[in-house]
Amino acid sequence: MKEFISKKIKKKTLLELKKLLRNHVYNDNFAGSRSRRVDKFPDLRKNISFCLNLENLLKEDIYLMLPKKYQRNASLQFPMNIRFFNPTNELLKHNYSTDNIHTDVWSGAPLRSKQFILYVYADRNSSYCRMFRSVERKRKYSNFRGKYQNIKINKKDLNEIKYKIEDGRFISFDSMCPHYTYYSKKTKHFRLSIDFRVKFGNPYEINNKRITRKKFVESKIGQPGWGYYWKLSNKKFKNIYNKILYELEFSKSLSKFAFNLRKEYISNKFKIKI
Ligand SMILES: [Fe+2]
Repeated sequence: MKEFISKKIKKKTLLELKKLLRNHVYNDNFAGSRSRRVDKFPDLRKNISFCLNLENLLKEDIYLMLPKKYQRNASLQFPMNIRFFNPTNELLKHNYSTDNIHTDVWSGAPLRSKQFILYVYADRNSSYCRMFRSVERKRKYSNFRGKYQNIKINKKDLNEIKYKIEDGRFISFDSMCPHYTYYSKKTKHFRLSIDFRVKFGNPYEINNKRITRKKFVESKIGQPGWGYYWKLSNKKFKNIYNKILYELEFSKSLSKFAFNLRKEYISNKFKIKI
């Protein structure tokens, strides 16, 4: 299984994606100056129809970037994260990173998962995610769970993976690949990117055991309840009700336990009674 994949999405998909963003972010056209700032970027995850459109647009590419054996048995994060990074990072003028180098597994992400980043607007003058080869083979790293500050990564264990930063660049990497957001001193362009995770296996199991209710339903800061993983299907849902219905049927086919978890998650999250 490849630990890192980098590809460029089709021109047509990128254009549609930019159009979708333009229509939802204050009717903003990001094609203008790349050195502009946006002080309040809206939380697009609250816009369910936008999130569904985004998912539908990217589904095909996600499939193609997954290992074959998981294409029929994986769970996709919904909604995806949409992030805007300003041209300069005023908070950390002297320090060139916004966060500590980390793997998301340390803060509770599933070990058997892939992370995806799609750069919609980005270039060599914007911030980017600096990537390193997986450190899973070293127990010190694969067993650790906790705050990023509490683990020291040995420089010798870090092998950088270089890739091109450009509009439409789509990367996926193993959950144990260390990474961090990098701002160079010369950063002068904004970046708009989309990121999300795909967990291997269905949303209701972890390491072939059923997930706990607490882990599935309850969210903490930086650790959303795992109910935000939904069965990855090749269907394109027209609205949230279609997506919910499909998921309820799927969970029902697995077990009463899975069905009840999904029902609880949905009524909490979408305030819909089932
Ligand atoms: Fe991360």
